[in-house]
Amino acid sequence: MDWGLKNRISQIIKPATGRTVMLAVDHGYFLGPTTRLENARQTIAPLLPYADTLMLTRGILRTSVEATTNVPIVLRVSGGTSILGKLSNEIITTSIRDAIRLNASGVALSIFIGSEHEKETLSNLCSLVNEAEEYGIPVLAVTAVGKEMVRDARYLGLCCRIAAELGAHIVKTYYCDGFEEVVGGCPVPIVVAGGKKIEEKEALQLTYDSIKHGAVGVDMGRNIWQSDYPVAMIQAVREIVHNNASPEKAYELFKKTATTDKRR
Ligand code: 5RP
Repeated sequence: MDWGLKNRISQIIKPATGRTVMLAVDHGYFLGPTTRLENARQTIAPLLPYADTLMLTRGILRTSVEATTNVPIVLRVSGGTSILGKLSNEIITTSIRDAIRLNASGVALSIFIGSEHEKETLSNLCSLVNEAEEYGIPVLAVTAVGKEMVRDARYLGLCCRIAAELGAHIVKTYYCDGFEEVVGGCPVPIVVAGGKKIEEKEALQLTYDSIKHGAVGVDMGRNIWQSDYPVAMIQAVREIVHNNASPEKAYELFKKTATTDKRR
């Protein structure tokens, strides 16, 4: 593998553990000012010391994160649709030149398999991989966002495998029963999205199950920053991802750390 590509992947997936806690704060690109991400700068700043990678759009990166940060950036480069329209009809929004200018360690785009715009979004992935590989930049393909599809092992396995076949270097998907089949059929690392906000205990269980069944980490958003105690939550997630903590131990840590975390 190209040295630059390998080096950038190792900025995203930490070589010490082979795992990653990616902090996803890209939601506004189709959801607008999502609850507790209205002021992105305020949400992101206290969490940055605990994030292995920050996933966001160029607009939020430029306006809401200091350029002096040493947290690697995975830049979302697909969008152009909203929750009010056809979500799957995405375009590539950001050029590779701009991604390089912003010192991105990786670029991310969504694919919508089984949707009306399946072919276009897969075509976007192919074009992005072709361009990004010219510069040794890894591509993270985000699968299965939206409400239309049943997120079972068969569907998610299909999505992840297709993403990898078309050249994605990392795939982001959802956890499901039989997740090991999804992982087994996907030759590149998988990170798991958190999905809608659930109880902290459940989100930690989700993290644990994902890792146990073969994910290399999480790319988590709402279950961290929509918690009343986001800093405690991201630390608890880290304990599972990097230190193989049990969900019970991580939840104990969450409760303990929450006493010192600023309540919203
Ligand atoms: C949306 C995304 C989000 O980053 C992803 O859904 C992760 O965030 P959450 O844990 O809140 O689901 O890629 O397209």
